[in-house]
Formats: sequence, structure tokens, C-alpha cells
Amino acid sequence: MIERIAALRENVATFSTSAADEVEQFRIAFLGKKGHITQLFADFRHVSNEDKKAYGQQLNQLKTEAQAKVKVLQEQLSGGATTKVALGDITRPGQPISLGAMHPISIVRDKVLDVFGRIGYGLSSGPEVEDDWHNFTALNLPEHHPARDMQDTFFVQTNPDIMLRTHTSSVQVRHMESNDPPIRILSPGRVFRNEAISARSHCVFHQIEGLYIDRNVSFADLKQTLLYFTKAIFGTADIRLRPSYFPFTEPSAEVDIYWGLETEADYRITKGTGWLEIMGCGMVDPQVLINCNIDPQEYSGFAFGMGLERMAMLLYQIEDIRMFYENDVRFLKQFTSVS
Ligand code: DAH
Repeated sequence: MIERIAALRENVATFSTSAADEVEQFRIAFLGKKGHITQLFADFRHVSNEDKKAYGQQLNQLKTEAQAKVKVLQEQLSGGATTKVALGDITRPGQPISLGAMHPISIVRDKVLDVFGRIGYGLSSGPEVEDDWHNFTALNLPEHHPARDMQDTFFVQTNPDIMLRTHTSSVQVRHMESNDPPIRILSPGRVFRNEAISARSHCVFHQIEGLYIDRNVSFADLKQTLLYFTKAIFGTADIRLRPSYFPFTEPSAEVDIYWGLETEADYRITKGTGWLEIMGCGMVDPQVLINCNIDPQEYSGFAFGMGLERMAMLLYQIEDIRMFYENDVRFLKQFTSVS
């Protein structure tokens, strides 16, 4: 009987197929209710006492090998990874799988979405290739408006009406055109500007735009929202609003947070002032609401926009924006989450 087991083990070892039905036949023949192995176990009681140990060992070995074979063949059929080694030594540890990590820009984006998600902001997205209306004109930047120069634009050569969006503010136009207030959205995405690449600027980067439109929305609501946001992300509500200009908001402001002046790096990044600019914001210009078919007599709102690279550089103390796009795993693996 020991010979019979040895012969079957040999059969198991040499069996190979890439046909699903043959694998199944093999499984039934060896491991099925009436298969070889079940029968051999039934025969166990006829084995003499002194042979029982060797017989039992051989039989268990046969069973393990048959099960491993079926598993490997099934995995092969389903496209799963397997190795020849697995056939010989099923106790061998698996191949190490190296895990990837979240990109720091994705981590910061998710964090911002999460913070605003808690106060009811949803998500809205738009195309990266935009038309003039959504990127400029509807946002109160008509043709030849000097403020268009604030953003150096990549146009599609054959059609100056089509461009790579220079900011995610285009999404607020799209959203207002197709949704009635109240509106509370965030739109993260890639934006493009024809700028020289350096440690501080890049021609492709990421922004998040926020938009809130409802009845009786005031600048005080904007300020409170900003306080909530900076506290959640930077751990400080020490902010100041500096009057500024954006064509699509009136009044407009630049938001600075107080960063401190404790280390040499603090002096460098805040240019010795202790204050850091983190985003632009303002009350949506009534003309923009009109352009998007919203009645400014009835509704008002605020908008804000921030650069994700800038946020990530501040939060993780990264000094060169180019690091984000080089895909060096030694860099990328360092980031887990924003505390
Ligand atoms: N679109 C601006 C930019 O790219 C950022 C911005 C500023 C967006 C103020 C806004 C805003 O919604 O209110 O520089």
C-alpha cells in the first residue's frame, strides 16, 4: 500500500494542465468523496500496527501535496501569482510585497476635503481643458482684461478659445450654471500655467476651490469658515485677512496665518514677518452670479482657493516643489498623514 501512495504522489507531482475541467477532474479523483485519498484513509484500519505510522505519514503527505497542487493550478487559471517553489515547499514564506504610499498632495487634498466635508461641503469637478468662458469671461475676466496676465495661460494653438485651465475657479462657474443654491462645494484638481519650473513654481500644480452660495451669506461667514479651517489644518486660528484683488470676488482678501518666528527656517519662509500667505478668498462678485444665472438680489456667497503644493510644503516642510513630481520612492514613502 505504501507503494500505491508513492505512485500517487508521483502522479500528483507530475500532473500539470491549463484546462479548468482537468483540474476539477484531478481534484475529484484525488480529494473527492470517492477519490483515492478518501479510500486510502478508509483502508487505514486494515494496516498493521507497525506500519500505521509510516502509512499515516505518507498518506497525509499525499493529501497535502494534492491540495497544494489543486490550489496552485486554480490560481494559475485565475491569473494569480504562483511559483514552482510553492509546489515543493508550501511552508516557504510568500514573496515580500512592497507597499506603496499615498502621495503627499493626495494626503493634504483628502484632509482638506475631510475638514470641509464635516461642515457640509460636497465635491464638484470639471475638465482640465477649458473654454474661455469658464476659465475667464464668466469669472469677470473679459477679453483683454489686464488681470488675465495674472495667470500665464497655455492655449490650444489651433483655437485660442480653448486652454488648459489656469485655476479651479472654472469649476465654480460650471457648478453654478447647473445647480441651484444653496451651494457648498469644493473642487480639487490640476491646473496649468506657463511658468518656469523652479524650487518655488511649476507649470502644473494643484488647487482646491471652495464655493458657498446661499441667502444672506456674509463676510463674517467667510471669516468663521476660514478660522475653522486653519484651526483644523494648521492648528492655529491666528489669521489675518489682507485686502487683495481677484476679478471674481469683491471684496477680496489674502489669508495669512501666523507661523511664528522661532527657527531660522521660520524667518526664511515668512520673510522675517512671521506671517504666511495660504490662500485667496472673497465674496463672489455679483456679476459672476449673474453670469451663472443666479440672482444676486436673492443670493450671495463666498469663494476661496488654495494651492495644494504650497499647503503640503508648509505642513511637511518641503523646500522644493519639484520633489512632488519626481516620483522618487524614497521621498514619497516618508509621508503618512497630516496630524
Ligand atoms: N483662482 C485664484 C488663483 O488661482 C485663487 C482664488 C482666489 C480662488 C480667490 C478664489 C478666490 O475662489 O475667491 O490664484
